[in-house]
Amino acid sequence: VSRLVDALGRKALFALDPETAHGLSIAALKAGLPVGRRPKPDPRLATRIAGLTFPNPLGMAAGYDKNAEVPEALLALGFGFAEVGTLTPLAQAGNPKPRIFRLAEDGAVINRLGFNNAGHDAAFARLSTLPAGLGIVGVNVGANKDAADRIADYEAGVLRFAAVASYLTVNISSPNTPGLRNLQGREQLAELLARVAAARAASARPDLPVFLKIAPDLHEGDLDDVADAVAAHGIDGVIVSNTTLSRKGLRSVGRDEAGGMSGRPLFARSTAMLARLRQRVGPQRALIGVGGVDTVETALEKIRAGADLVQLYTGMIYAGPSLPYRIVSGLSAFLDREGLSSLSAIRDTRMAHWAARPIA
Ligand SMILES: Cc1cc2nc3c(=O)[nH]c(=O)nc-3n(C[C@H](O)[C@H](O)[C@H](O)COP(=O)(O)O)c2cc1C
Repeated sequence: VSRLVDALGRKALFALDPETAHGLSIAALKAGLPVGRRPKPDPRLATRIAGLTFPNPLGMAAGYDKNAEVPEALLALGFGFAEVGTLTPLAQAGNPKPRIFRLAEDGAVINRLGFNNAGHDAAFARLSTLPAGLGIVGVNVGANKDAADRIADYEAGVLRFAAVASYLTVNISSPNTPGLRNLQGREQLAELLARVAAARAASARPDLPVFLKIAPDLHEGDLDDVADAVAAHGIDGVIVSNTTLSRKGLRSVGRDEAGGMSGRPLFARSTAMLARLRQRVGPQRALIGVGGVDTVETALEKIRAGADLVQLYTGMIYAGPSLPYRIVSGLSAFLDREGLSSLSAIRDTRMAHWAARPIA
């Protein structure tokens, strides 16, 4: 039945332009439409990183629920955690429409939204009303396009959301805010993370986990800098990765649209980056693998490449709202089949393989 709901929903939503379809899917979740079901809780899937216990390792990636409208509904679909945002201090409209493109033949999406969001205040108001014990809700923060001091926008995000977030993500990897990715360079990254760490120390939750989200378009040397900087400033983990500027291997007509590409063709590149970063940060630091996850097997492969946790977004556009249920139940079935008591047993087992793969 859930696959039928997925197929019908997909047919209806794909008749609409992608941004309208996205708005409708948020409205459906908000209205409490029964579009999915929670997988059976499985203690073997619980993952403890950065002082948090995730009930299962699959999360909703940032960008779907930009304004923190439906975190409860996302958790009810089976996700072990939901990341809302990216949120900027002031509301902003983002780039002119159309700005989301389906590349159906490739199982991919290109977006150039440009941090359209309702701003800190609106999201804070919603997050403050969430019931205690709801589950893990991360808040992804960014900078306004016109900010005079972009790093100050990240500090503001940390101070604002520390009291209501399970963790914070510092997103400097969107390709759609001109110059934002420059914050990934060695000097700027050091200043950013020093100021973020100071803001956290001064916030309501000095022990709040903070993750850094990076692009899949970095060079090996940049990865060395990222590994050094997160260690130097006590950043708890890294999310690998955001969307790519690469268009390699795409066949769909929309492939020349400007923006960041996500989905199936991002899998190999983001997984190769993840494994390279795992080699550099060592076994302790938390890594979250994102990019092209759309099946149990791709989720498992992220873990084998070095991920503690996995997130997805584009996969759900194509596979429908039962995808988290199917992946999470599939992870339990995998543990049964292999006779394993946790997924940590397979982490890093294919790190060397993925790290040696050329970045396509
Ligand atoms: C339409 C769209 C909007 C996105 N917006 C954000 C965002 O606001 N902040 C962010 O950190 N990532 C954003 N992302 C990136 C995703 O969180 C994720 O890193 C990327 O899409 C790769 O995962 P996927 O292949 O499973 O989609 C967005 C992705 C898409 C497709």
